[in-house]
Amino acid sequence: MQASLGIGMLGLGTVGSAVAARLIGEWEMLGARAGVTPVLRRVAVRDLTRTRDVDLRNVELTSDAQALVDDPAVDIVVEVMGGVEPARSLISRALQRGKTVVTANKAVIAESGPALAGLAASHGAGLWFEAAVGGGLPIVALLRASLGADVVRGVDSIVNATTNIMLTRMREEGVRFETAVAEAQRRGFAEADPSSDVDGWDAAYKLVIMSWLAFGVHVEPEAVDRRGIRDVRLHDLAYTGQLGYSVKLVAHAERAVRSGAVHLRVRPTAVPADHPLYAVDDSDNAVIISSDLADTVILSGLGGGGASTASAVVSDVVQAARTRGCPPAAPLTAEPVLLSDEDVEVAGYLRLIVDPSGEAQAAAVQMLEDRGVPVTAAFDKPPLDGPFPQLLLLTGAAPRAVHDRALETLDTLPVVREIACAMDRIESAA
Ligand code: HSE
Repeated sequence: MQASLGIGMLGLGTVGSAVAARLIGEWEMLGARAGVTPVLRRVAVRDLTRTRDVDLRNVELTSDAQALVDDPAVDIVVEVMGGVEPARSLISRALQRGKTVVTANKAVIAESGPALAGLAASHGAGLWFEAAVGGGLPIVALLRASLGADVVRGVDSIVNATTNIMLTRMREEGVRFETAVAEAQRRGFAEADPSSDVDGWDAAYKLVIMSWLAFGVHVEPEAVDRRGIRDVRLHDLAYTGQLGYSVKLVAHAERAVRSGAVHLRVRPTAVPADHPLYAVDDSDNAVIISSDLADTVILSGLGGGGASTASAVVSDVVQAARTRGCPPAAPLTAEPVLLSDEDVEVAGYLRLIVDPSGEAQAAAVQMLEDRGVPVTAAFDKPPLDGPFPQLLLLTGAAPRAVHDRALETLDTLPVVREIACAMDRIESAA
């Protein structure tokens, strides 16, 4: 009979249930692939009385997570409980006992990945976290192994399904923000507290992890230039649509070739129709990696939810079981140097509420160009809610700091009543 490895799981929510179903339902296939049979022995849950939609008759449910971690019959701890604590402490505890840990926890890995990887290395343990970024898309494996010969220059991505669902519904059906959040929650994509999704934290965590693996530096999540989608208005989704753009919550990272300094940002961004992220809608995620040898590698597909995330979790269990005794080395982790706003180039989309004098367009364009911000297109639009007409402007590439200073001056122009929207834009390649 083939040897077995004991699995203990922390959490039995949407992802945990899908992981349990696969471990129990396909134990034979997984065992053949791993060379040892992974057996789900214990699951720690908060509520022992709750009815579960997975058959756990041979699995012990417990409310004592620490005892599960300490149990000598548990070789691999699968953490799918989410949240930072107690998840981080339980992961540390397991690693200190030399156990393999498989986690889907992006907040913990983004905040403490290097410390936990160091802990794992010093105890001969393995730390696996494919499920922390992009559900079943193998982004961690791509950055950690497949591109091991490359110097990565940048990452452009959509890594939050909730906001992508919301922006798609808002743009296509004109649904309100609250209705769109409710749909993402109902479909099981939103975090327990969806403000992590809509304020860009979830995407920032995933970007920090990708940048850690891609560039070998660890940027604190707080250091990501982050804006969520709360201020995105239906009007701007419609206007950018008319101009050939689709608004996405884009997570972008870049590294300067000479200095090695990095920049990470998560911002609503107008993406042009000829860009690979343009058609990535609804619950799909996509990651574009630019590197020196492979050039451009794109992964896209379902980016979350129970089944897709379970795919990554259970795949990590199989890999960990197959390579037991030889865990992956800790990723390189240097202190980051951050690019300043004088060195990061962005293009923009602006919507201004202006005076009806007919002079606003010329005055605004002149002012922006005088301050170093090129204007590539300008469109007068009729009033929306009030009596004042609008002006849409597409600005070309200029340093973020130059853009920001020009916007401050724009706000003081007598013909400009209000800057109703200022959003990043990716320029069309055409
Ligand atoms: N809340 C996350 C999202 C779940 O919407 O992408 C998957 O990580």
